[in-house]
Amino acid sequence: MSVHPEIEKRKTFAIISHPDAGKTTLTEKFLLFGGAINTAGAVKRNKANQNTTSDFMEIEKQRGISVATSVMGFEYKGKRINILDTPGHKDFAEDTYRTLSAVDSVILVVDSVKGVEEQTEKLMEVCRMRNTPVIIFINKMDREGKDAFDLLDELETKLTISVCPQSWPIGQGHTFKGVYNIYGNQLNLFESDKSKVTEPVIQVKDLHDPLLSEYLASKHLDKLKGDLELTEGIYGPLDKEMYQEGLLAPVFFGSAINNFGIRELLDTFIDIAPSPASREAEQRMVYAEEKNFTGFVFKIHANLDPKHRDRIAFLRICSGKFERNKFYINTRLSKKLKFSNPMDFMANDKTLVEEAWPGDVVGLYDSGNFKIGDTLTEGEELQFKGIPSFSPEIFKEVENRDPLKSKQLEKGIQQLTEEGVAQLFVQQPGNRKIIGAVGALQFEVISFRLEHEYGAKCAFRPLSFSRSSWITAKDKKTLQEIMQRRSSHIGFDKDGNPVFLADNDWAINLAKRDFPDVEFHTTSEFKR
Ligand code: G4P
Repeated sequence: MSVHPEIEKRKTFAIISHPDAGKTTLTEKFLLFGGAINTAGAVKRNKANQNTTSDFMEIEKQRGISVATSVMGFEYKGKRINILDTPGHKDFAEDTYRTLSAVDSVILVVDSVKGVEEQTEKLMEVCRMRNTPVIIFINKMDREGKDAFDLLDELETKLTISVCPQSWPIGQGHTFKGVYNIYGNQLNLFESDKSKVTEPVIQVKDLHDPLLSEYLASKHLDKLKGDLELTEGIYGPLDKEMYQEGLLAPVFFGSAINNFGIRELLDTFIDIAPSPASREAEQRMVYAEEKNFTGFVFKIHANLDPKHRDRIAFLRICSGKFERNKFYINTRLSKKLKFSNPMDFMANDKTLVEEAWPGDVVGLYDSGNFKIGDTLTEGEELQFKGIPSFSPEIFKEVENRDPLKSKQLEKGIQQLTEEGVAQLFVQQPGNRKIIGAVGALQFEVISFRLEHEYGAKCAFRPLSFSRSSWITAKDKKTLQEIMQRRSSHIGFDKDGNPVFLADNDWAINLAKRDFPDVEFHTTSEFKR
């Protein structure tokens, strides 16, 4: 089957980083270079204040901003680029993980001063789960950061991925002169100027081109030649297949705030990053170029206006062509649905979309028909894989503070957990409701939204659990046994799957030892 030009031209990806490494700045610079925005500062920072956990206005603002910037599409050199935004705040990590299920590749930003940080490692783990191709951008080269070779070593050891530098810094911090672009044989000279969109680029034949000595002092040129000889010996040429299989990360150096190293990153990205290809469903592999439309919902966003309960479901198209006003089936509910106002996102604009292609993300107005992970098809029974729930780390019991509003509370909790704000576990006896979240901020968001959108009041009682694992066993009896003998540690997730709740790793290991035939899973993505 030949690949449709509309599919081939699409590059759908996310920019990810530990907070403050420069994700927002790089995103903005991509939009600027792609001509999607005219001035820097147009993309608001999509993050709540890192230091506060109870600034509700900030949370609300974040929710507002994140709809506008959830998807940023633009055309660049004949390609359609879709950047899927991920929240910066670590407490929204699960949202980020889910968004990563809808991209074909990522650009990971690393701060040259701080190197690999906690969230960098966690994000990389998620990429590795799906073999998502990763390009690494080492940012803030205008600062006195770590040595380039040390950084590459750190990336390889801490992120467990092979790396291959595609540009190389000349100096660093106050001596930063620019980068040599290995991929395109160019010398890019650095100027500290935040307003410039272009940087002086000198095209050379190779490292021995006499032109180089016109721009670089001999000590810098000699050092560059020595470094590149070493990198060639250690890392060799770029193996694109290994990159596309998620085994090798090309590395670029630059300074996002100074618009430096962005153009070459973007140009190489559109050259080597994969277009939409195939995606695994429970039943079979689905290929982008198949004629019939398929897609899945990876994010649901509540309406900011509490008077309108409709939500926006973000649908990633996987195959075929999505068309406005055509009937599709939500396979979970076997329900026919038609969308008269699907939205397309171009930078900060929303427009009505008539048709969309694999790799695109469309926003669908939803009055409660969708859950995260739902699949839409033209009729085939399919369920896409890859939108797992991750085991939360903070668990609290929900206590109803207004008995007259228990229905509202029930509905609110159900809808908010469907949106993926946090996970709900139910414990027997007594239908005890436990909310599990990755970060503390989620609890603030839930009680605030329950009160403002559903008129329900609740309190959260802290529980000692800090780990959870979905449990399965080949034999039903084995599963029954652990559920009976450890009943105070068993909860059920939204789909009724049993989950083992534990205080710490030690308790999980003990249970593993006591029940050797039970399998423990840290994400909900396991074969049932
Ligand atoms: P994030 O989305 O990953 O959290 O990071 P963001 O882009 O917001 O950048 C974090 C801080 O790092 C910002 O400074 C930003 O200006 C700065 N920054 C980004 N790229 C570079 C770079 O190449 N060099 C240097 N030196 N700094 C860079 P801030 O003071 O927190 O905010 P702002 O007031 O500048 O917006």
